Amino acid sequence: MIQADLLVVHAGELLTLAGGPQGGEGPRTGEALGELGLIRDGAVAIADGLVAAVGLSADLLGTVRAAQTADARGRVVLPGFVDPHTHLLFAGSRADEFEMRLRGATYLEIAAAGGGILHTVTQTRALSERALVDLGAARLTRMLAHGTTTVEAKSGYGLATEEELKLLRALHRLSSVHHVDVVPTFLGAHAVPAEFAADPDGYVALVIEEMLPAVAEEDLAEFCDVFCEETAFSGAQSRAILEAGAEYGLLPKIHADELSDRGGARLAAEVGAVSADHLLFAADDGLRAMAKAGVIAVLLPGTAFFLGLPYAPARRMIDLGVPVALATDFNPGSSPTYSMQMAVALGCLGLRLSPAEAIAAATINAAWAIGMAEEVGSLEPGKVADLVILDATDHRALGMHFGVNLVDEVYKRGRLVYSNRTGSVEG
Ligand code: NIG
Ligand code: FE
Repeated sequence: MIQADLLVVHAGELLTLAGGPQGGEGPRTGEALGELGLIRDGAVAIADGLVAAVGLSADLLGTVRAAQTADARGRVVLPGFVDPHTHLLFAGSRADEFEMRLRGATYLEIAAAGGGILHTVTQTRALSERALVDLGAARLTRMLAHGTTTVEAKSGYGLATEEELKLLRALHRLSSVHHVDVVPTFLGAHAVPAEFAADPDGYVALVIEEMLPAVAEEDLAEFCDVFCEETAFSGAQSRAILEAGAEYGLLPKIHADELSDRGGARLAAEVGAVSADHLLFAADDGLRAMAKAGVIAVLLPGTAFFLGLPYAPARRMIDLGVPVALATDFNPGSSPTYSMQMAVALGCLGLRLSPAEAIAAATINAAWAIGMAEEVGSLEPGKVADLVILDATDHRALGMHFGVNLVDEVYKRGRLVYSNRTGSVEG
């Protein structure tokens, strides 16, 4: 008999996302992307916050002695979503810019005129660390209600040493006080701040010589990211920052080829980045290089949707063997959504992924993209028991029901933390 704290039974579809290529030793590519490890009338046993066993309800009901049983009543059960690219901490609104875009201005034109990211920087600098934690906690609670149980979050609206440290410290605090786990990324190179408008290389030097050592000293980030773009940092500047970050133990990530082809995909392969994100305009040779180097493509279809841009060539990436993940890119200027369900729906409708591929991209591959695949992203013995129960009996509903919340219940570390019935997150 297996002793468990909780046994979830009668999932009409239990999506385990277990296994995969090489027994799950790496992110899913090609055909394996669409393998959900689906068990009909499935069950999950949970002990000490971890998955203890997974299988048919009929089997587990006979082999597990559980303190408590929860009946999924034929609904879909899947791992909690992992959102591997967000800009969680920002203040203020970009509604004026939104209206300008609706009247024809482009995101790049607004950025070139000093709006965009720099507008948000001014407002974010005005908040204390404490206020940022309160803001972030409220957002994490809403994310949790949409099924997200692990999130990557970037700094990048500080753009001065103390301001960037403030953001990263707030992210650490959030991870310890909130149910949702937060993986912090240093994005000091998000834009050139107004103070350095005449000396962008001076800002790159500040990032390398002052910010990176300070971030490393306090062990504040897992990853170092750079916005490689016309209005932000060149390929050479991006490479210098990512290589310096790597020397401090920060793994490289890149905002690559989001608004134009800047060779970001190739650069990602050359520096051995964990992921290259966006890739709307990535060149084919860059994608080939990514496939060869095993760089994960983190696709952010909310951004293409919100900015009215063409979607990234996801099918081409899958054909080439690039591992693909999905994220929200939650931020005030180019993707103000924190719903991974919306990312999955747009993954299907915009990127042309199948619902199964999109779900794998939003769970197990997303976990790989932030170095968390050992812990989360699938329901397998030994992994953290983060799971979601949907108001649906067919997983394909996630690709179809855009803009609505299908989540009925969320369990974090085996505990019920959100229920649609009470509409509340329990402490
Ligand atoms: O991922 N690309 C850079 N950062 C965000 C946009 C941030 C903003 O507009 O405030 C992005 O699209
Ligand atoms: Fe981003």
